[in-house]
Amino acid sequence: MAGSEGRVLPVGPGPGGPEPLTRAAVVALTLCTFGAVADEPPEERQVELVRMLRHDCGACHGLRLDGGLGPPLTPETLAGVAPAVLEQVVLEGRRGTPMPPWKALLSPGEARWMVRAMQTGGIDE
Ligand code: HEC
Repeated sequence: MAGSEGRVLPVGPGPGGPEPLTRAAVVALTLCTFGAVADEPPEERQVELVRMLRHDCGACHGLRLDGGLGPPLTPETLAGVAPAVLEQVVLEGRRGTPMPPWKALLSPGEARWMVRAMQTGGIDE
């Protein structure tokens, strides 16, 4: 698998030949794959995250996050709490309490998205 595959787009003469085009294609492809807003999970993942909030988190915090074993996670109760603090609790858990860490299942960007959903009531469509 070495050698001649580079000659894919012979677009005529010119300095450099097909090489710059090939590189542009690689850059474009890379941007397509990794160019999504780093901070915002893709839509399919957002659906999963909301399901997770309702079911996994809801097991302790109530199906509508209105409280259970864990405290309510509603816009009212979370108003004024710094998102970074809540993200930290979601990712790391809170030691000495039943709140478990979720960082094995959630990226920081996903935790940030979930906190925003909780603080804005975004899980009740
Ligand atoms: C096993 C039960 C349990 C599960 C599951 C659970 N939590 Fe918790 N959570 C708790 C408890 C208990 C607390 C309160 C900890 C304390 O006393 O400070 C808490 C606290 C929190 C807090 C801090 C609230 C505040 O006002 O400081 C956030 C945010 C939170 N949980 C989010 C989540 C999210 C998001 C999930 C799902 C990914 C989740 N929790 C799953 C039990 C749970």
